[in-house]
This record gives sequence, C-alpha cells and structure tokens, in this order.
Amino acid sequence: MLDISEAALAHARKRLGQNAKRVKWITADVTTWAPEITVDFWHDRAVLHFLTARADQEAYFRTLKNTLRPGGWAMIAGFAPGGPTECSGLPIVQHDADSLQNLLGDDFTLIEQRDETHRTPSGAKQAFRYHLFRHTAQTQ
Ligand SMILES: C[S@@+](CC[C@H](N)C(=O)[O-])C[C@H]1O[C@@H](n2cnc3c(N)ncnc32)[C@H](O)[C@@H]1O
Repeated sequence: MLDISEAALAHARKRLGQNAKRVKWITADVTTWAPEITVDFWHDRAVLHFLTARADQEAYFRTLKNTLRPGGWAMIAGFAPGGPTECSGLPIVQHDADSLQNLLGDDFTLIEQRDETHRTPSGAKQAFRYHLFRHTAQTQ
C-alpha cells in the first residue's frame, strides 16, 4: 500500500491487525515514486482526484504503467461528475471514463464502471465512480 502520508498508512496498518504483515507499506508521493515492485492489480480510491495539475496526472499514470504488469487490472475511483468538487477542503478533479482513457492511452481497455453513493461519517452523501481498466496490450 502506498500513501504520501505516514499517518494514513499507520491508520490502515492498525485496522488490518495481523494481516498488516502481509502488506508492503510504502510511504511515497505517487507522482515521483520509482517502483521497486510490480503488481497485477492497482487500486486507487480518492488519490488521483487530488492531482489537479495535468503534469501530476501524467506522472501518476507513468507510475501506474511502470508498476502494473502486462495483463494487469487498474481500479480507479474518485468523485463522479456532478459530485463534490472538494475533498477535505482541497480542490479535486472529477474524472470519467473518457478522461481516464485519455490519460491511460490505447494499451488500456475500460472493462466496467459503477457509481456508488458514499456516506461520510457525518452522514453526507458523496457521488463516487469506480472504473475498472485492463492492460490489454500484446506482450512480447
Ligand atoms: C481521501 S484519502 C483516501 C484514502 C484511501 N485510499 C481510502 O479510500 O480510504 C486520499 C489519500 O491520498 C493520499 N495522497 C494525496 N496525494 C498523494 C500523492 N501525491 N501520493 C500518494 N498519496 C497521496 C493522502 O495522503 C490520503 O491518504
């Protein structure tokens, strides 16, 4: 699990209890991290949407492509169009299948997308959208 915040990772580690030992914990900025591992599944809920600059979005997808093995899956979720425009007081970018496809390029195919209404601890409703892409480029 990767996060720029050590505190966020500590919170997740605590919630996982004994299972935390099975996770590789990485404190890093996803836009500058040089992957030392590869994975079959990339899961992002509400991280990409904080990257408002195009250069940071492109850097995020460079990391994703350097980390994901050919044939792997990428699940990317964030606030949906029509949903909140800020998260924790910070501006966010609402992505959809087209904007993600544009950043991922032709080597990735959208498999499925689903909307979810997320309830915050205070009871507010937030429109989320999950996108599942597959790396479908031919391997050599
Ligand atoms: C709204 S929280 C979502 C946390 C978790 N993914 C979840 O679904 O509960 C956003 C997280 O993105 C992390 N984050 C923001 N910018 C980041 C970056 N450039 N690199 C890595 N993590 C980042 C924050 O530290 C925070 O933990």
